[in-house]
Amino acid sequence: MSDSYLISGGKPLKGEVVLSGAKNVALKTIIAALMFEGNVTLKNIPRINDVLDLIELIKSLGVKAKFIEKNTLLINSSNLNSNRVDLQYGSKIRVSFMLFGPLLNRFGECYVPNPGGCRIGARPIDRIIKGLVALGIKVDYDTETGYYHAKILSKPKGKYNFEKPSHTGTELLMMIGLMTDKQVVIENIANEPEINDLVLYLNSAGANITEEKNKIVITKSSKLKQKEAFTIMSDRNELVTYATLVVASGGDVTIGPIDENLIASFLEIMREAGAGVEEISNFKYRFYFRGLIKPVNIETSPHPGFMTDWQPSWAILMLKAEGESIIHERVFENRFSYVDELKKLGAKIDFVNITVENPEFFYHFNFEKERLYKQTIKIQGSEELHNAILDISDLRAGAALACAALLAEGESVVNGASILERGYEDFVEKVKKLGGEIKKV
Ligand code: EPU
Repeated sequence: MSDSYLISGGKPLKGEVVLSGAKNVALKTIIAALMFEGNVTLKNIPRINDVLDLIELIKSLGVKAKFIEKNTLLINSSNLNSNRVDLQYGSKIRVSFMLFGPLLNRFGECYVPNPGGCRIGARPIDRIIKGLVALGIKVDYDTETGYYHAKILSKPKGKYNFEKPSHTGTELLMMIGLMTDKQVVIENIANEPEINDLVLYLNSAGANITEEKNKIVITKSSKLKQKEAFTIMSDRNELVTYATLVVASGGDVTIGPIDENLIASFLEIMREAGAGVEEISNFKYRFYFRGLIKPVNIETSPHPGFMTDWQPSWAILMLKAEGESIIHERVFENRFSYVDELKKLGAKIDFVNITVENPEFFYHFNFEKERLYKQTIKIQGSEELHNAILDISDLRAGAALACAALLAEGESVVNGASILERGYEDFVEKVKKLGGEIKKV
C-alpha cells in the first residue's frame, strides 16, 4: 500500500481551500451518539483515518454506522451489545477511553483499555480517572491486562475540579454528567471551542448543560434524541496548516468557512508576522505573502491562547522568516518530533533551555522535577531548504513535514502519509488545487 508522498517543492501556492469538519469534534460526536435513542445524523464528518478507525471500533460493539453522503454519517446504537473495547483499538484510537461514557450509560459497567503513551508524550489519563471517581464511579485498573474496569455505584453527582484542565477529560466527564438525576459540576475545565460544539450537539438533543466561566453544569436531562441532523464546526487546525504553508511559500489563499472567534489568536499573530490577513466574506479569510515574514516568538497554551496543534505549522512559517524565533511548548511534552526531520532539509533549528518559574504550574503536563524536558526550540529563518527523505511520526508534525517539503527546492519523499491522513481530509487534492506538486507513492 502506498504510504508516502512524492513532493516537488519550491513554488508559491495560490487558490482556495474549503475546510473539512473538525476531527476533534467528529470523534466525540460519534462517541456521544452511542448515548442517543434512535438514529443520529452527523454532517460535515471528515473521512479521515481517525474517524474511519473509530467507526470500525463502534461497529465491533454492535453499533450501526455508515456514510450516507460523502460527509454525512448515520449512526444507530440500538444494537450496542458489548461493554468491552477490544485491546487492538486501545492504543490505535486514543479517544477510545471516552467510551467510558456511553458504555457506562448503557451497561452500568464496562472494560476499556488504557490508551497508553503516544508519540506526543506520555498522555496519562490520571486526572480524568480521578474525575470519574469523584462523580461516584468505581474504577479499577488491571496492570496485567491493561484494562480499566468501571462500574456505576449510584447515579453520578457532585463536583470535580480539574487540577489542570483537560480537553477530552472535560468532554468525557460531561458525558458522564448526562447520567445524573441531580447535578454534576465540572470546574477548571478546558475551554476549547470544540468542547462548545459538543455541548451544542448534546443540548440540541435534550441535554441540560450550561457553560459558565471555567465551569460546566449538567442538570438532569431527558433521554437524548436527535430532532435534526447536527453539522459539526470546521477544522481550525486545518486552516492554520494551509494558511502558514501558503504564506511561507510566498503565495495567496482564501480559506473558509470559519468563525473568527475560533482563530482570533492565530489571526493576531499572523498579522504580527507581517502576513496579509483579510476577512473576505461569509466566514472566509484571505492569507497572503506581503514581501517579508517577521520572526515572532510563540508559547502554546489552551484556548484562547496559541494552540499546541498549531506550533509545528508555525515552525514552518518561521523557517521563512527574516531572523530568529522561539517556540515554547507548554501543553504536551515531546511535541518536537519534526525537528530532526526538518534538519534533513537544511533547516537551522536547535533545542534551547529556558528556565521558567514554577514549571509545575507553567506546563500543562504532569511536570517531574528530575526529568529532562525539551520544550523550546530556536529557529533561524530564511535558510534555503533542499529536498530530503522525511519520516512522519505524529499527526501535526507530519503535516509540518509535508508542508516543509512543499517549500523545499527539488523532489522530496515524505513517508508515513497514513499518519497525516489520520487528521487531514483530501490532503493531496487540496494541495494540488493550490498548485502544489504532490502525489501518493
Ligand atoms: N494530561 C494529563 N492527565 C490527564 C489528562 C491530560 O497529564 O488526565 C495532560 C496531557 O498529557 C497534556 C495536557 O494534560 O500534556 C493537556 O491534555 P488534554 O487532556 O487537554 O489534551 P487531550 O484531550 O488529550 C485534545 C486534542 C488534542 C489537542 C489538545 C489540546 C482530541 C482528540 N485531542 O487532547 O489534539 O492538542 O486537546 O487542545 O481532542 C491533535 O488533534 O493532533 C491533538 C493532539
